Amino acid sequence: MSEKVPIQVPRLAPFITLLGAGLVIAFGVAFFAVLGNVPNPQRLMTPIVVTAPPQFTGNIEARVAAADPGKGAAIFEKYACNACHRAEDGVGPALRGMGARAATRRPNYSAAAYLYESIIEPNAFIVPDYANIMVSNYKAKIPEVELFDLIAWLLRQ
Ligand code: HEC
Repeated sequence: MSEKVPIQVPRLAPFITLLGAGLVIAFGVAFFAVLGNVPNPQRLMTPIVVTAPPQFTGNIEARVAAADPGKGAAIFEKYACNACHRAEDGVGPALRGMGARAATRRPNYSAAAYLYESIIEPNAFIVPDYANIMVSNYKAKIPEVELFDLIAWLLRQ
């Protein structure tokens, strides 16, 4: 017996190390799998609260109500929105009915708030079945006055 001990220990050591490493990895994988699948109520609710950058929270409706929808069509062309948005579905969702759909896309979003977010932060919500290719620098490009005129017009499409 005493002769075998020095032989067995070096042979078992790598096996035990491997087993230990395997267990650590298995637990790690299981941990993140569980973490990823458990519905987290806080995470589900957060996007509803973050409607738009702080400076407009709460008064998007007022800004849109005071805007001039009559200028919207020209602004839509000026920023080449019509390259992707035509009357019917194409590269982007159809212009026709956009205002009505905007009210239904995201829970607790008004149509105006949804349109506002869709334009200045298109990555925040990707319309199902569409590619995430909408130009994403309108926040820097479109002055506020034009943005709200545009939204007021889109609401009527
Ligand atoms: C390069 C193509 C492209 C351009 C240019 C573009 N869009 Fe889009 N847009 C898309 C695509 C694709 C989607 C759907 C995917 C998504 O949600 O990002 C979309 C989604 C939208 C939505 C949400 C529509 C819905 O039915 O929910 C709005 C509103 C919108 N765009 C407005 C605009 C406005 C206003 C402009 C111009 C300032 C513009 N887009 C320019 C491609 C484009």
